[in-house]
Amino acid sequence: MPHNQFDKKSQAWSALFSEPMSDLVKRYTASVFFDKRLWQADIAGSLAHAEMLQAQSIISAADHASIQKGLAQIGAEIEAGAFEWKLDLEDVHLNIEARLTQLVGDAGKRLHTGRSRNDQVATDVRLWLRGEIDLVVELLVELQKSLVDTAEQHIEVIMPGFTHLQVAQPVSFGHHLLAYVEMFARDAERLGDVRRRTNRLPLGAAALAGTSYPLDRERVARTLGMEGVCQNSLDAVSDRDFAIEFSAAASICMVHVSRFSEELILWMSQNFGFIRIADRFTTGSSIMPQKKNPDVPELARGKTGRVVGHLMGLLTLMKGQPLAYNKDNQEDKEPLFDTVDTLKDTLRIFSEMVGGQLNPATGVKEGGIGVNPDAMERAALRGYATATDLADYLVKKGLPFRDAHETVAHAVKAAIAHQVDLSELPLAVLQQFNPGIEKDVYQVLSLRGSLNERNTLGGTAPAQVRLQIERHRLRLG
Ligand code: ARG
Repeated sequence: MPHNQFDKKSQAWSALFSEPMSDLVKRYTASVFFDKRLWQADIAGSLAHAEMLQAQSIISAADHASIQKGLAQIGAEIEAGAFEWKLDLEDVHLNIEARLTQLVGDAGKRLHTGRSRNDQVATDVRLWLRGEIDLVVELLVELQKSLVDTAEQHIEVIMPGFTHLQVAQPVSFGHHLLAYVEMFARDAERLGDVRRRTNRLPLGAAALAGTSYPLDRERVARTLGMEGVCQNSLDAVSDRDFAIEFSAAASICMVHVSRFSEELILWMSQNFGFIRIADRFTTGSSIMPQKKNPDVPELARGKTGRVVGHLMGLLTLMKGQPLAYNKDNQEDKEPLFDTVDTLKDTLRIFSEMVGGQLNPATGVKEGGIGVNPDAMERAALRGYATATDLADYLVKKGLPFRDAHETVAHAVKAAIAHQVDLSELPLAVLQQFNPGIEKDVYQVLSLRGSLNERNTLGGTAPAQVRLQIERHRLRLG
């Protein structure tokens, strides 16, 4: 057998090393047990690299064919679960390359010409993340559709809108849900931006300085469907800002999920009683038989902390690194993988929890959020949610807004004293606060009257909510 850098079982390097790595150090430095997740990207990158090496006459057509064949077999082995991942071979890249050489001999050893694991791993992570971004965006579209469907069913349902968690003004429950659609739409848009900067090719930067082989980097970028080539070799192998950006976008998205979760948790508490979520998203208590706990929203709120934590981890990982590649960067993977897993699971589960599950027999979704419109309306009535409407009414009668505000404060005080809603105060009582008040005041004092009045673009009037739903449907397809 010819001398082969992978022959020696104890370590993968070369004659330079006089002692093998200890088992502990091997375990400490290896990444194969998590970065094997990158295998498809690794093979795709290698195929594109080999194709270019051949096109540039750096390797022969025969070697290229052997590499293609070997990599295809490796892909099949991995898919079938038959590939033997070896800790001794440290990471996904060395594992695949060693197997390739085992399968096709010298051609396998030629694959690494003009390449380093430094540009290879940066390429792999970018390719993998690009695919994951596309999946996350699809899930965000699904979630938005679930929210839009549910919003459409509840355009006319009135709930108290809050500021400071105090009843403020009546809003449509549909309108409230559409606020989250806006947030998730921006999350998808943000991920689209991150994708553009992720989708650039480091390969060809080699270890850090470029390479002496006549590579055609643009060609590799085209083969891989990348939008461009990283223009500085040092930057190409060392920065992970695309991963940090992704983490930031994922964190913002999870913060949106977390805010929604907080509302769901409040709304389904006995004190609100606004909604129900399907039993399969809740759990009971082992001691209190009456309990139904909103575990899924609570966990989503909790998992937001972990995703934000990963963002902090990645930023901290990067901050002290001199150019160019450092092994620190191997630590980018677990936080990134966990972020993607957490985000995808969360979005999937929320789509179903909000919109329900498709019943194949009827073709209709069932078991989404259940709404209790009476409880919502009662809560809005309890909070004098139409006080602003009375003030606006007085302004229309010619009062300066500040004076109207003061007048209404007195009216609310009187209503509280009588334990009635503003709309239940007799006209004669209302006229004590301002003689200009007439019978038509009761139109604006009702919750529905107040809602219909807010008919400006982006407002909560049902007419506006319908327009927004139409816009979302066109946008989401
Ligand atoms: N497993 C390494 C990583 O994830 C691959 C690159 C290693 N390069 C090196 N020169 N040691 O970053």
